[in-house]
Amino acid sequence: MDDIKKIILEAGEIFKKGFYDLKDVSFKGKKDLVTQYDVAVEDFLKSAFKDKMPEFTIIAEESSNDIVEINNTIIIDPIDGTTNFVNGLPHCAISVAIYKNGEEYIGAVYLPILNEFFYAKKGQGAFLNDEKISVSDEDDFQKSLIATGFPYTCGESKDDLEFIVDRIKKVLPNCQDIRRLGSASVDLCMVAKGVFEAYYEIGLASWDLAGGMIILKEAGGLVSDIDGGELNIFEHNCLVSSNGKVHQKLIDIIK
Ligand code: IPD
Repeated sequence: MDDIKKIILEAGEIFKKGFYDLKDVSFKGKKDLVTQYDVAVEDFLKSAFKDKMPEFTIIAEESSNDIVEINNTIIIDPIDGTTNFVNGLPHCAISVAIYKNGEEYIGAVYLPILNEFFYAKKGQGAFLNDEKISVSDEDDFQKSLIATGFPYTCGESKDDLEFIVDRIKKVLPNCQDIRRLGSASVDLCMVAKGVFEAYYEIGLASWDLAGGMIILKEAGGLVSDIDGGELNIFEHNCLVSSNGKVHQKLIDIIK
């Protein structure tokens, strides 16, 4: 774990430089941004992991993004929350998930600007800067703080926009409040830390969710698809995540 942490912390230095620097911003889609720093952080991580773990296949948002199976695999999002990064909002992170023989092994989500390093190793719990974290005990949905997100596709797809607006109408009156933080990996860590009771979003890619998902499960949380079944991380389905206690209620509302 220490070697992996060292690599991610080093990548965080490029991230931090970029956060305070002028950025070349280009568009991968109508709403989907990328900067030279997404590419630089990704290049650094790919090269460092290739040296350290040559037997692992790498999936990464900006380059190796067409693989849809897991074996000995590292999944990287160099900057999750690129819009926040571009606009100077510190809720953006490097997300890394490592799978061994097809099984979840290590998750790491690092917020360089806030100096928060979330990580988990299968069977050993979840941590934020070396302190153990766990999900909240709240079981009353009405008292729960719920997070969600808006996939970039809502700029083009009426169906996706409809889903988002309709579910907000259903969830908002029945919970404490809703937050949209702008980084899926950070949202998952916030559920892991007990800040949010639950988080759901459609259309996420494997690199957005894999690191945070491993951390959340190790913190005692639950992740599923909208039917309560196992989430296929490559299917861009609706991810439902929670402290476990309000999971079914959230599914009942958004399904
Ligand atoms: C995005 C963020 C955002 C979510 C989008 C993702 P990116 O990832 O996680 O919170 O709503 O669906 O694509 O593009 O910033 O890595």
